[in-house]
Amino acid sequence: MRRFVIVGRHALASPDFLLDDLPGTSGRLDVLLRSVRAALLVSHGIRAGARVYLVLLGGPRAPRTLRFDSATAKFFRPDERSLATLARKVLAHDSASERFVEIKPGVALAAAGLAAVDEEIGAAPLVVLREDATDVRTAELPNGAVFVVGDHLGFDAATEAWIAGRDALAVSLGPVSLHTDDAIAVLSNELDRRAL
Ligand SMILES: C[S@@+](CC[C@H](N)C(=O)[O-])C[C@H]1O[C@@H](n2cnc3c(N)ncnc32)[C@H](O)[C@@H]1O
Repeated sequence: MRRFVIVGRHALASPDFLLDDLPGTSGRLDVLLRSVRAALLVSHGIRAGARVYLVLLGGPRAPRTLRFDSATAKFFRPDERSLATLARKVLAHDSASERFVEIKPGVALAAAGLAAVDEEIGAAPLVVLREDATDVRTAELPNGAVFVVGDHLGFDAATEAWIAGRDALAVSLGPVSLHTDDAIAVLSNELDRRAL
């Protein structure tokens, strides 16, 4: 199972954004939804065994976390507007559970942030993507790793503390700082080549 965690520092944890102006009204949820596409969707299909956690830290309902799972996904389409429509429907749900509750096929919601992720991944090894780390091409990636990727602003202090507390391995994808979704696409290619 491939798992990714992306923390949206300002991404709205409520459905109060406009589909016609997603970047301008959602705290850049668009960045996170493109990452879902990169992690879960391939040409004409969906990857087997992939899961994405979007930790939403923006707005008064934060923190909340969306979980997208390829195993139970239905109606996942690659365009940003469709994914935003799906996310908005799930975020409109009032579930107060701090554990994940599936609201739509393949999309679950938890009324908690990294604590909800911790609860699910247990002691799984963490790998954080950083521009200035060991090259992924020479890195030995632990089995069952959970990959942590920053949004357009990188990591906030609380997420850095979480990463440090879990003793994460840091790997780089090369000398150029990429957009979050492109970083996930490059990493996915590396994992595909290793059949991980
Ligand atoms: C747009 S970058 C963040 C840039 C942000 N200004 C910063 O300083 O962290 C988004 C995320 O993608 C990942 N990333 C981008 N380029 C990378 C690279 N060359 N190697 C490893 N990770 C990368 C990192 O996790 C980064 O936090």
